[in-house]
Amino acid sequence: ARDTFHRFADVLIIGAGIAGLRAALEVPSDLSVLVVTKDRVTESNSSYAQGGIAGVRSPEDTFENHVEDTLVAGDGLCDREVVELVVREAPHQIEKLIEFGTKFDEENGQLALTREGGHSHRRIVHALGDSTGFEMMRATIAYARTRPNIRIWDDTFTIDLLTHEGACCGAVVARNGMGKFLIWAKQVILASGGCGMVYRETTNPPVATGDGMAAAYRAGAELRDMEFMQFHPTVLYVAGSARYLVSEAVRGEGAYLRDVNGERFMPASDPRGELAPRDVVARAIFRTMEKTQHPNVYLDLAHLDPVMVLNRFPGINRVCKSFGLDITKDRIPVRPGAHYMVGGVTVDQHGRTTVPGLWAAGEVTSSGLHGANRLASNSLIEGLVYGTLCGRGAADAIRKMPRDMIAYPIRSAIPPAEEGTGLDLADLMASLRSLMVRKMGIVRERTRLLEAKEDLRFWCRYALSREFDGKTGWELQNLLTIARLMIASALARDESRGTHFRSDFPARDDQRWGLRHVASEPFVAL
Ligand code: SIN
Repeated sequence: ARDTFHRFADVLIIGAGIAGLRAALEVPSDLSVLVVTKDRVTESNSSYAQGGIAGVRSPEDTFENHVEDTLVAGDGLCDREVVELVVREAPHQIEKLIEFGTKFDEENGQLALTREGGHSHRRIVHALGDSTGFEMMRATIAYARTRPNIRIWDDTFTIDLLTHEGACCGAVVARNGMGKFLIWAKQVILASGGCGMVYRETTNPPVATGDGMAAAYRAGAELRDMEFMQFHPTVLYVAGSARYLVSEAVRGEGAYLRDVNGERFMPASDPRGELAPRDVVARAIFRTMEKTQHPNVYLDLAHLDPVMVLNRFPGINRVCKSFGLDITKDRIPVRPGAHYMVGGVTVDQHGRTTVPGLWAAGEVTSSGLHGANRLASNSLIEGLVYGTLCGRGAADAIRKMPRDMIAYPIRSAIPPAEEGTGLDLADLMASLRSLMVRKMGIVRERTRLLEAKEDLRFWCRYALSREFDGKTGWELQNLLTIARLMIASALARDESRGTHFRSDFPARDDQRWGLRHVASEPFVAL
């Protein structure tokens, strides 16, 4: 292929969040690992995690409680065996993070534990108050860098996965300023995270454009549960500010939600009040905003001990202060925003996708842990557990393979890019993201979903057939692909469950849906 270089690795890992790095660290030192990430290695959803990592640690708590809370939040769609597996592994994975150098917050010589929505007990470890992800990734990246068998390429965009006779054998990547590379690998692990950028309002950083999900789909992997986008109830809503997450731990420590008139509305919506699972809180906020005709609601911490507030939430305080808000006194304007893609590439209990040679871990997957709605702080732990399984599984698979690396002849050269095609990428991206808020948001309904499907069909016709030579075009194509899949799944699921609410089918329908998932059909023409 013209201008294309070849590289080899035993294991290629796509994504350098916690799932990708944990997988890399599990691969034995005699196997070479290449981790590619499209931005800087510090830029992932894992790094932005505030609340923390759930794991049973206190004597009053039990694995059974954590399992039960996860199943309740998952609204009938969790795979109990997967929940048991992850919950029981959680304390060990937290110890591993400490071994990598993570410094969690402590209280009286023990790890400090907080609570979040849907948790019956305090079981969430955190670091630097509300910057858990930052501290965890700082330590894990530094630890991974000491391993001679692990190479990390940042600024490397994965354009597509390579397959040969139905099995994954690498990826085509573009390194910023260095051209395109064909990376041939004996096993590939996808840990590329989520797709919050498909919505105008999201807590995710700009890197979350569903690239791995879309690439897996194009490679023929099954994706499922794509209708379940979790909206975080409380995203800072100040004109001119980025949509900054205000951690659920703020409500865990006792903050109230109030409407524009100062009324608390959660106690009337759910007996668990402000600490009901996120889907319940997000919908209550949505209804309150409609009722009061006000674009946001407010978090109120004024009744809490100001010393505790400032100690626990230094990051949130810093951001709010930069907009003139004192979190110990002022009400913080918030509204829901897209936060976590519950669905994704289907994986089994070992982290295997439906494509041989391709493993996956973390937000890019649907493992069965989260069901129809993820319990707060259960995702870093999922990334850690499945990252470990994938690293181990990929290494075991390699032991059974021939020693030599194989580069297959590729059918055609990577096509030259068509630039100057007259397509305003920024305009189409903005249209897509606002369409998703309007028609595929917290409340969905058939007519509006059909309209969205039609818009997507039209956009995809002219945007997916083009060849781009840069990140903006590829990301747009990936988000269009993901949006298509999400809308198709939302139309198919004619019931309400977890994060998926259909105003035309407002009840959960166990008789018709039971434990059924909506699997994305390969190359479905919408
Ligand atoms: C938060 O801090 O509210 C986010 C935690 C999570 O999404 O698990």
